[in-house]
Amino acid sequence: MKMVFLGPPGAGKGTQAVMLREKKGFLHLSTGDILRENVKNNTGIGKKAKAFMEKGELVPDDMVIEMMLDTIKNARDKKDFILDGFPRTAYQAKKLDNELSKLKLPIDMVVYFKTGINTVILRLTGRRLCSKCGANYHIVNMPPKKQGICDKCGAELYQRKDDSEETIKKRLEVYDNQTKELIDYYKAQGILKEVSGDLEAGKVYSELSEILSTCESDDRNKVRK
Ligand code: AP5
Repeated sequence: MKMVFLGPPGAGKGTQAVMLREKKGFLHLSTGDILRENVKNNTGIGKKAKAFMEKGELVPDDMVIEMMLDTIKNARDKKDFILDGFPRTAYQAKKLDNELSKLKLPIDMVVYFKTGINTVILRLTGRRLCSKCGANYHIVNMPPKKQGICDKCGAELYQRKDDSEETIKKRLEVYDNQTKELIDYYKAQGILKEVSGDLEAGKVYSELSEILSTCESDDRNKVRK
């Protein structure tokens, strides 16, 4: 199943993608993670992307498209992957459709994480990440056993620079102006499914698993017919 995760910042896209990776072996391709890795390693992409990311603005389309198409072409598994945070503009979505149809790898399903604004603000301001393994925590909803320390590897947790209140506001504005329209774009293709992003993580995962098993059995039926 080739999926796109769509939704506002803080909707829980990354959290659910990691759960699907750990429980069902999906490849998790996150634009945000790939860009942050480039910034950390001071690559050409990282140097150009840093200022946009810190301001909560989108990195220019052509740069992200090239980076993600290369990532997909080089992926070890082209059958079961999740694009998390990509596409994010109509231009990116059209380019992705064109390129994937040439590769005969069309997107099967887009999951829209419908989430209220108060939820996302609380989630983003409380998010903490592991500086070594990248594990994701929340100071209230998903706290580590020992404050400030990663349960998985013992390294220190940190707060993302773009999780300040001012930058969160900017990211939400960018989502409203440039990304939200993709809901209609994918609805028109008949591949949009919705989950309730406001629920606690285990319940969101149950909704997601149910949608996945329905889509997989629909697929099998199509093959039989
Ligand atoms: P990116 O890293 O993709 O950020 P985002 O879309 O803003 O998404 P987040 O990572 O903030 O949220 P999420 O939905 O994954 O939530 P999470 O699971 O972490 O992008 C960063 C920047 O990169 C962009 O601003 C832009 O500059 C650039 N960029 C990226 N893609 C681009 C593109 N395509 N084009 C151009 N530029 C691009 O959860 C959040 C918190 O809530 C965590 O603490 C978690 O523990 C907690 N939580 C999660 N789920 C639940 C739940 N169900 N209940 C309670 N708590 C929960």
